[in-house]
Amino acid sequence: MSLEPDKRKGEIAFIVADPWQGLGLGTKLVDYTIEIAKDMGVETLYAIMLSDNYQAINLLKNMGFTLQSQEDGTIKGILNLREEMQQDMPERECRKNQEKAEPLGDVSNIT
Ligand SMILES: CC(C)(COP(=O)(O)OP(=O)(O)OC[C@H]1O[C@@H](n2cnc3c(N)ncnc32)[C@H](O)[C@@H]1OP(=O)(O)O)[C@@H](O)C(=O)NCCC(=O)NCCS
Repeated sequence: MSLEPDKRKGEIAFIVADPWQGLGLGTKLVDYTIEIAKDMGVETLYAIMLSDNYQAINLLKNMGFTLQSQEDGTIKGILNLREEMQQDMPERECRKNQEKAEPLGDVSNIT
């Protein structure tokens, strides 16, 4: 994982040697990287792949990444980790955090 200077976005690259492919190692590798990125407070993970790299594209699609075709013909897989963490968070914790949120105050004069 290579973090951008603001540390909010990280690009991932992953490789499994040929004899060990198709056994679930690539999935584990990406899953573990996602957990590390969440712990580090990274907000978005992405990977750039060639459009015929079906293994990598399928792997990321299965893991919930959104796929975008790029102008240069590559495919960008994007995962929003903030959304992921909201989904991971038990409903009770989520409610507690919402209750803790600062009230907006008087919003009647906002145009
Ligand atoms: C992409 C890569 C890491 C996948 O590793 P892997 O250990 O084979 O992946 P997994 O065994 O976890 O398989 C995950 C998914 O990949 C897809 N996949 C794996 N082998 C595939 C194949 N031969 N054809 C099509 N899809 C395949 C499947 O969707 C699979 O999900 P499934 O279990 O539901 O079938 C590996 O092919 C690789 O190292 N490729 C070269 C490097 C690369 O392209 N990296 C990505 C860009 S940075």
